[in-house]
Amino acid sequence: MSDQAATLRGMVGQHHHYAKVVTFASGKGGVGKSNIIVNVAIALAGLDLKIALFDMDLGLANIDILLGMTPHHNLSHVMAGQKSLTDIILPGPNNVMIIPGASGVSRLANLKEQERATLIESFAEIEARADLLLVDTGAGISDNVLQFALASQVLVVVTTPEPTARMDAYALIKTVHRMSEGALPIQVIVNGVASKSEAEQVFQSLLAVCERHLSNHPQFLGFVPQDPAIPKAVKKRRPFLLNNPGSPAARAVVDLAAEMRRVLLPTGSNAAAPRVANSFFARLFSLFSSRSPQ
Ligand SMILES: Nc1ncnc2c1ncn2[C@@H]1O[C@H](COP(=O)(O)OP(=O)(O)OP(=O)(O)O)[C@@H](O)[C@H]1O
Ligand SMILES: [Mg+2]
Repeated sequence: MSDQAATLRGMVGQHHHYAKVVTFASGKGGVGKSNIIVNVAIALAGLDLKIALFDMDLGLANIDILLGMTPHHNLSHVMAGQKSLTDIILPGPNNVMIIPGASGVSRLANLKEQERATLIESFAEIEARADLLLVDTGAGISDNVLQFALASQVLVVVTTPEPTARMDAYALIKTVHRMSEGALPIQVIVNGVASKSEAEQVFQSLLAVCERHLSNHPQFLGFVPQDPAIPKAVKKRRPFLLNNPGSPAARAVVDLAAEMRRVLLPTGSNAAAPRVANSFFARLFSLFSSRSPQ
């Protein structure tokens, strides 16, 4: 963000620009979403972008664990009025703003009108400060995951070459395609491959099924190779990008970040990037209201 843009924004006193929101999901659990999102966030922030990372995973392998952090508060404390949103944000490497969602996320749909308004307003501030808001989701195709995906500008589907992961990736794309009537752009990352050509093969077969059955055309965002540097870094609770920058996985994540910037923020600049008119949380809550839970 340039100083001038920040000043102008301050002068008008309004949030005219919001971060682009990119939700990572997979269907099948354990395919590497959290590891990829954390490291790609750090790499994107290294490209001089302001990155916020929202952890809505309710599972165990949470972002804070991967970063060796111990958040004492999360979104549920914000909703209870005990903390402000800025109180719960953790500063990650390269100033990535980590927002621990944890147990708060499951209560989002049941907030009172006033609580919603407060949350929308405080999130809007974060969204106005960031270029990208990356959202990590847990395993499964739950209502929460779908609503987060539908409120985003882009869905990143992570799969591995395993048939089960590919089936779930397709099931996720199919559901999101139907619910968004084909309007949500979908990008695919193939994780845990032996080579780039294996990743391309996996993507091509997924693309073929999506085109044949859905007339949907997901795009190939990139891949991360199978790499012992990842579990090694997880054990140390350090992002592999920083723990072992020369590793194949780290280099792949740097490429992924460059590709994400190219695809998502074509100008590469905060001020000129095309933005949406309202905030992610405003969209999220309007989805809660318009769709009754099954
Ligand atoms: N490219 C890779 N090479 C080697 N190991 C990997 C790779 N990607 C992920 N892993 C390992 O797979 C495990 C699961 O990764 P991760 O927690 O990021 O998956 P996830 O999709 O976020 O899981 P969940 O669905 O439970 O949230 C981790 O222990 C990690 O070490
Ligand atoms: Mg995860």
